[in-house]
Amino acid sequence: MQLSHASSRTAVHGYGRAGSVRKPRTVVVRAAANVEQLRSAKKDIEDLIRSTSCNPILIRLGWHDAGTFDKDGGAWPKAGGATGSIRLKPEIGHGANAGLQAAIDLMEPIKAKYPAVSYADLYQMASAVAVEVAGGPKLAMRYGRKDVNDPKDCAKEGNLPSAGHPFPEGSVSPAQHLRHIFGRMGLNDKEIVALSGAHTLGRARPERSGWGKEETKYTKDGPGKPGGQSWTADWLVFNNAYFKDVKKKSDDELLVLPTDAAVFDDDAFRPFAEKYAEDEAAFFADYALAHVKLSELGAAWDGEPVSV
Ligand code: HEM
Repeated sequence: MQLSHASSRTAVHGYGRAGSVRKPRTVVVRAAANVEQLRSAKKDIEDLIRSTSCNPILIRLGWHDAGTFDKDGGAWPKAGGATGSIRLKPEIGHGANAGLQAAIDLMEPIKAKYPAVSYADLYQMASAVAVEVAGGPKLAMRYGRKDVNDPKDCAKEGNLPSAGHPFPEGSVSPAQHLRHIFGRMGLNDKEIVALSGAHTLGRARPERSGWGKEETKYTKDGPGKPGGQSWTADWLVFNNAYFKDVKKKSDDELLVLPTDAAVFDDDAFRPFAEKYAEDEAAFFADYALAHVKLSELGAAWDGEPVSV
């Protein structure tokens, strides 16, 4: 039985129960995603990350594809989520996605090599591999997501978080805004704080998001394109430094967005942030669960999901 091609259906011929007239029947088995291509794509992504240090932008790509999900948004693909729609216009042109075309372009040669791997899977795989290569937790990822291919099925603008005032829905505080945005995805306080810890990697650039400094002593020499402002000194290492640094707020060279400050300022977020600052293993465990949940928001599966 062929179990290696996305979207394929495999006919299995069998026979009725013993003693009955031997009448062939056909059982249609929905085949799983292309495991070989998924494995090879994963290897290529690892090589790409190790040679270019592009981990942070790949994590942002996966997050911005999945993070449009609306739990009350209706049947797939209307509810947004991890559908690969971020690559299409108008979604890639949304303000929140400024700069992410570069990440999509990095993925194109890999997609061309492994056409049976969906964009939706490729983006979530790239994000997961990026976390793992940077030293983060192992993520129990599953693959077999279907792609949105029609621009009219793109997510609407405004579903991703703003980093500071004014908040479009009128929230009075960053914490209220975070609950508004992540609550729509079906994510809770613990998951909001854990996922915020992804800012242990990467930088903000004024020309992309409008946040951060042009450069700091931690970013002026790259690696990758120099410049921007990072949340942590070692911004290519996935650890719990984000929580330690946001708590201290003692280094002007490091970034603290209003939404980052909220993980310690808000009474219900704080216990999680304090725990993660103290206990990296606790952060890794909660982050791993929240990341996998994020990666599956709104996904429609082509057959049984597979792990590779
Ligand atoms: C909590 C609400 C969040 C807000 C308001 C927010 C905001 C931002 C902003 C403004 C940037 C800078 C983008 C740029 O200038 O290029 C950024 C970068 C980044 N974000 Fe978030 N983010 C949030 C949550 C998350 C989550 C949940 C993840 C992943 C799980 C994530 C991962 C990243 C990464 C890795 C970068 C660095 C990208 C790079 O270096 O190119 N963020 N975020």
